[in-house]
Amino acid sequence: MAASKIIVITGANSGIGYATTKFIASYPGYHVIMGCRDTEKGQAALDEIKSSNDIKGTLSILQIDVTDDSSIAAAVSQVEQEFGRVDAFLSNAGITAFGHSAREQLTKIFATNVMGAFLTSQSFLPLLLKSENPCLIQVSSGLGSLGLAANPSDPHYNAPWEGYRMSKAALNMATLQQHKQLHSQNVRVFAYCPGLVRSNLRGESEEAVSAGGAAGDPMNSARGLFDIIEGKRDSEAGQFLSANGTYPW
Ligand SMILES: NC(=O)c1ccc[n+]([C@@H]2O[C@H](COP(=O)([O-])OP(=O)(O)OC[C@H]3O[C@@H](n4cnc5c(N)ncnc54)[C@H](OP(=O)(O)O)[C@@H]3O)[C@@H](O)[C@H]2O)c1
Repeated sequence: MAASKIIVITGANSGIGYATTKFIASYPGYHVIMGCRDTEKGQAALDEIKSSNDIKGTLSILQIDVTDDSSIAAAVSQVEQEFGRVDAFLSNAGITAFGHSAREQLTKIFATNVMGAFLTSQSFLPLLLKSENPCLIQVSSGLGSLGLAANPSDPHYNAPWEGYRMSKAALNMATLQQHKQLHSQNVRVFAYCPGLVRSNLRGESEEAVSAGGAAGDPMNSARGLFDIIEGKRDSEAGQFLSANGTYPW
């Protein structure tokens, strides 16, 4: 078995996944497996991170498309052969979909954000269960909170993006079910809202990346995810975490 902590991150070539890879790899004792559906993009991201001076951990690329069962199965098999276990699985890959019919948008969004996140993380469970201190994080969004969506005095109340919101609400249910399934086996399961941060989620123009200037630094999301992996929020396992507290489901 590998000595470093083994971290798998899906969607690691961009945005929050990229920032989290870079953040974790700045500490010794971690190996980050960068899950990417496009390995060329993944290799470019890995090279860019490695070229920064403060990398103390190690990195590798894993081809994984969370909407493709054969890709998921091959990825699990590869990680099993190379590492034998996973200590933290960050189910981060997620999308929005614009410019299609409402049915097409919902189908695409749910295929990635709900079925993709749930089925991929379930497939990695046997490897997580080989860890001494396993951690499963579903990267959700405050936009998926039913409690916030129903509260007229909360800023999330009037936010649009119905399909995306519905998908993250469904992902939250999946997370809660996984927590109930796994807590007796000592798996720390969390839903986590990374906050509004710069990424390609909303598109690739500067306006979209920055959410009109409102988006923060994804390294802050990365720090939050690292704290969870490191056990700083273990007392909140099974909950929906924001940067500084919890959100209602
Ligand atoms: N940014 C925010 O403000 C914000 C706020 C709340 C929650 N989130 C959540 O944070 C997570 C990361 O998003 P981000 O903001 O970092 O967006 P991003 O920059 O667009 O990154 C998304 C990543 O997911 C990958 N991906 C998409 N579909 C995939 C699939 N089928 N299989 C494997 N990988 C796939 C993308 O790969 P490609 O590069 O190949 O497309 C990319 O690497 C998402 O779950 C998102 O919902 C983000």
